[in-house]
Amino acid sequence: MDVKTAIEQRHSVRKFKSTPVPVEVLRELVRRAGLAPSVNNAQPWQFIAVTNKSLIGKMAGIVHEKIHKVFEKTGKDNVMKTVEHFSTIFENAPALIVVANTPYKAIADAALNHDDINAMRQHPDIQSIGAAIENILLSAVDLGYGGCWLSGLLVAQKELEELLDIQAPAELAAAVAVGEPEGQPKSRDKKSIDEIFTLIE
Ligand SMILES: Cc1cc2nc3c(=O)[nH]c(=O)nc-3n(C[C@H](O)[C@H](O)[C@H](O)COP(=O)(O)O)c2cc1C
Repeated sequence: MDVKTAIEQRHSVRKFKSTPVPVEVLRELVRRAGLAPSVNNAQPWQFIAVTNKSLIGKMAGIVHEKIHKVFEKTGKDNVMKTVEHFSTIFENAPALIVVANTPYKAIADAALNHDDINAMRQHPDIQSIGAAIENILLSAVDLGYGGCWLSGLLVAQKELEELLDIQAPAELAAAVAVGEPEGQPKSRDKKSIDEIFTLIE
């Protein structure tokens, strides 16, 4: 599949068939993620593929519980239900690729404070992880699968880090639900090229 087709056919997939995703496919998705550009080629990432149903269920349970706790006092039940839905869509996915952010060194570290560099450069480690995740999503389409980028589960970041044994200084950064799509994923409206493009000549 060419890149243009993969880009145009990618949509967030939130409903999956129960068919397992073979480990070879998960390894290939992560191999391609690892080819993404990264700050100073630091490759500030680690990927944990989870296919164990009971562990995925446990993770979702932790997220459900944390969302109830966080929203409990707001009285905004409808908001809570929507957030809960989108934060736990991975519970029925056959596979989940958890992405951890690992420390990086920039060239400027030799002269400047690391935290200052991070703020000044809008968190290049997180930007790098974004590039890697997009590689996973496009590759999933290429290999006949679908996926959904997930940050909602980070509401329970500390609890999930403990469960998955992600140890400091590594941090849970995101996850990607992966599987064969059930039905046709919804195609979302996108801004037109004229709304998002400016040319300065
Ligand atoms: C940083 C980031 C975090 C996201 N977190 C979630 C999430 O927690 N749950 C979810 O269902 N979708 C999540 N999404 C998917 C977006 O909702 C989706 O990309 C957007 O609605 C556009 O739809 P499309 O991916 O089909 O183009 C996330 C996407 C990004 C880039």
